[in-house]
Amino acid sequence: MNESSKINFLHANNGKHTFHPMGHPAELEQNPARIIDKAEGVYVFNEKGEKVVDAVGGLWNVNLGYSNERVKKAITDQLDRLPYYSNFKGTTNPPTIELGERLVSLMKPEGMVKAFFTSGGSDSIESALKIARQYWKMLGQKDRYKFLSFKKGYHGTHFGGASVNGGERFHRSYEPLLPGCFHMPYPAPYRNPFGIDDEEQLVQTCLKLIEEEIQFQSPDTIAAFIAEPVLGAGGVYVPTHSLWQGLRALCDKYEILLIADEVVTGFGRTGEWFGSRYHGVAPDIMCLAKAITSGYFPFGAAMVNERINDAYMTNTDPFGGLFHGYTYTGHPVGCAAALATLDETYEANLAGNAKEVGSYLISRLKGLQDKYEMIGEVRGVGLMMSLDLVSDRSTKAPAAKELMGPLADHAWEAGVMIRVSGNVIIMSPPLVLTKEEADKIADGLDYAFGKIS
Ligand SMILES: Cc1ncc(COP(=O)(O)O)c(C=O)c1O
Repeated sequence: MNESSKINFLHANNGKHTFHPMGHPAELEQNPARIIDKAEGVYVFNEKGEKVVDAVGGLWNVNLGYSNERVKKAITDQLDRLPYYSNFKGTTNPPTIELGERLVSLMKPEGMVKAFFTSGGSDSIESALKIARQYWKMLGQKDRYKFLSFKKGYHGTHFGGASVNGGERFHRSYEPLLPGCFHMPYPAPYRNPFGIDDEEQLVQTCLKLIEEEIQFQSPDTIAAFIAEPVLGAGGVYVPTHSLWQGLRALCDKYEILLIADEVVTGFGRTGEWFGSRYHGVAPDIMCLAKAITSGYFPFGAAMVNERINDAYMTNTDPFGGLFHGYTYTGHPVGCAAALATLDETYEANLAGNAKEVGSYLISRLKGLQDKYEMIGEVRGVGLMMSLDLVSDRSTKAPAAKELMGPLADHAWEAGVMIRVSGNVIIMSPPLVLTKEEADKIADGLDYAFGKIS
């Protein structure tokens, strides 16, 4: 097939034979997905060769950019040596052993002692929720099966994750979901229903409501609280450290497990290696995925602390077996990709770069907020940020959804790929981003807002 007939083929078949996640299939036929055909550094190219800065970083995951030779080589070397072998009872492989040791030593400040490997974020969440329930059963507290989470949170797409997710669109069409999941208000100052402007006061109000819910449910029925250290897909909300410290204190008071969903915040995105470290909190379970391999291989992990490991180690009944796992748990190629990604993340000090370039980009975005009335709020930390668009700054009424597609198209024309979710632009560029590339993103958005204002 020559180049032009290949492009014709792609256009004719785009969206015809595949469902895409997180959108209406019928809409996709009218608005075909952008075809991303190639990538280099922090740039992606479409099928026509148009080149843009990827301000989305794949999907919060391509922290190293697209051209990391060390990770590619680790993958191909491992494919040559051992492309697959199972981690089910009785067998393992060297990269599994090495990665387990590496993650545990990396996560010493959080007190993690063991890893359970998965194929991605939703798997890591599912593993964490199941481990949390099993923990309490092993301790003889069989009533502790409930989960608490935040209304704005996102924890993936399996039934467990969907059940603890906030946002009715993740629930409504798939109900009935897991019984025993309760959703708490998130202390997001912008448009909060309490009318509280002082953020600390808002945090303390939400913590009080959480405590009230714990008491209402009866503490000895709650297995775990799950939350994102920085709330991502729900609109990028950066909570105060006091929220996380307050959650830890409540969990300690009522012996509830604290699960940190670090699928987005893990590996430097917030400017610290982990979101929990950013808050100075040690959870009981930490869910990892995405940037653990910079997106080069589908991979993830659920990490547990000594408290949970001890319960397994001291259990003597048959129900302490971990009868949970995936064909691809401990996939040698995924583990090799993760090891190389960790080396690169450390050597290039990507967390430090996220802090520096992230604060620069956020300050550029705040400059755009001064210029364009429709930017109601700029939120972010490190290299995760959002612009909350409004039709009226005084009422904070969300901007019309019809504006968002054209805005993204104009950003593309100006050489920037952005992601829109409702009335919010969400950005999470690769952590190798330079200030010059951050300028390209801000200038591209300036052009796009200029077009629709
Ligand atoms: C915080 C969080 N948890 C879990 C997930 C699910 O991860 P995956 O899409 O790899 O299953 C996501 C995905 O974006 C996420 O943002």
